[in-house]
Amino acid sequence: MPLHVVILAAGQGKRMRSALPKVLHGIAGRPLLAHVIDAARALKPERIYVVHGHGGEKVRAAFAGAAIEWVEQARQLGTGHALLQALPLIPRTATVLVLNGDVPLVRAAMLRRLVRSAGKGIAIATSDLSDPAGYGRVLRDAGGRVLRIVEEKDATRSERAVREWYAGFLAGNAGRLAGWLARVANRNAQKEYYLTDVIGIVANAGATVSAVKATDRMEVAGVNSREELAILERAYQNAQAKKLLAAGVQLADLWRVDVRGELACGEDVAIDVNCVFEGRVRLGDRVRIGPNCVLRDVSVAADTEILAFSLLEGAVVGSGCRIGPYARLRPGASLGAGVHLGNFVEVKASRFGARSKANHLAYIGDAEVGRDVNVGAGTITCNYDGARKHRTVIEDDCFIGSDATLVAPVRIRKGSYIGAGSTISKDTPRGQLTLARARQVSVRRWTPPRKPAGRT
Ligand code: UD1
Ligand code: CA
Repeated sequence: MPLHVVILAAGQGKRMRSALPKVLHGIAGRPLLAHVIDAARALKPERIYVVHGHGGEKVRAAFAGAAIEWVEQARQLGTGHALLQALPLIPRTATVLVLNGDVPLVRAAMLRRLVRSAGKGIAIATSDLSDPAGYGRVLRDAGGRVLRIVEEKDATRSERAVREWYAGFLAGNAGRLAGWLARVANRNAQKEYYLTDVIGIVANAGATVSAVKATDRMEVAGVNSREELAILERAYQNAQAKKLLAAGVQLADLWRVDVRGELACGEDVAIDVNCVFEGRVRLGDRVRIGPNCVLRDVSVAADTEILAFSLLEGAVVGSGCRIGPYARLRPGASLGAGVHLGNFVEVKASRFGARSKANHLAYIGDAEVGRDVNVGAGTITCNYDGARKHRTVIEDDCFIGSDATLVAPVRIRKGSYIGAGSTISKDTPRGQLTLARARQVSVRRWTPPRKPAGRT
């Protein structure tokens, strides 16, 4: 039977108190909806439909180019009404899996169980893992048969006392679901067409409602407020931290690490507190990351140490390097083995050969730095003339004195020694000392200025 997935994502999410549509709020740096779509894709469905409405343009733009059928729900009249917008597009013989766009951490295994359990009736995901406040309660008869779901706002006191709640996913045959859904009314506290009312209709019709119980509270947690979002983010990060620990990574604190993407680590990697990893990050064997570092789309080879408060983005770092504290690598920085970059050194779109060093306060941009080069404190590559960027080449074995200004395009030839404070605007010859600064003079006889009389 072909599988079609419908994700309900048209609601505003009033309780978020935000101009951003709820499903675009992020967990681990990705929209809630992206997480749900990932789980759906793992089932290899024929199609995925996303019902959008509130902030629909923004939602579509965030997923431009993705293989998604967009279905508009012009007015948000409830989850049942939302599903009705998509059903006419789905073949009647298909199995439909309906997901809430605001339950982000659901996993494929649970969804597969749902699809398998649907049969001729309907299968719903339920949970009694945590406090059901705000959720729809699952009501059963004495024999344990599911009778219906009651939304909290419509529930009596004794119904509210029920622990089992609807987790926001269900599966059933498309044609039959359309028939049942047509009978849902909006006579309830919120004047909405509840998808959950279908359960009672199915049970009344004598068809089976199978409940698939969740075994992990994170995968059924919905996001309705910023507090729930923050709690879920931390739970998600904690789960990632545990995976890293299990894989042999040393973490100083499993509550203070954030992975917003993919982090691949070699053996005996050590990560101190408050580090953030974004995009794709690879850390080689024995790499050590100091506290408060941010690494985005970076690869770091074995035995390199990144010291506290460093920010690395789009960089490739060789083995045995020492970076930071307070270093900044920008996109296109590429460092050979044994490079040292110290505090307040910024490197952009530049290569450093093996063993070269810039230990303090420098800007190296659009440059080619050879091997065994020493860049003194305060050195600046003047790469921008106001209109265009130009390259600086510093060949092997050069020594650049402190506070040198290298005006690009310029080439510092092999073994050059640049005197401190020089402004270099012409290529230098190999192996020579080049100075480009005013000569120092001392005046033996001179009269210091005097203050006018009467003033102190
Ligand atoms: C819903 C369920 C509740 C369940 C909970 C699980 C209903 C009526 N209630 O409650 O039983 O315990 O999820 O998380 O289904 N949406 C639309 N169009 C609408 C209304 C909502 O697309 O007209 C979308 C929302 O964007 C959201 C999802 O449907 O992604 C759920 O809507 P929400 O209002 O959050 O429902 P809950 O009150 O959480
Ligand atoms: Ca919800």
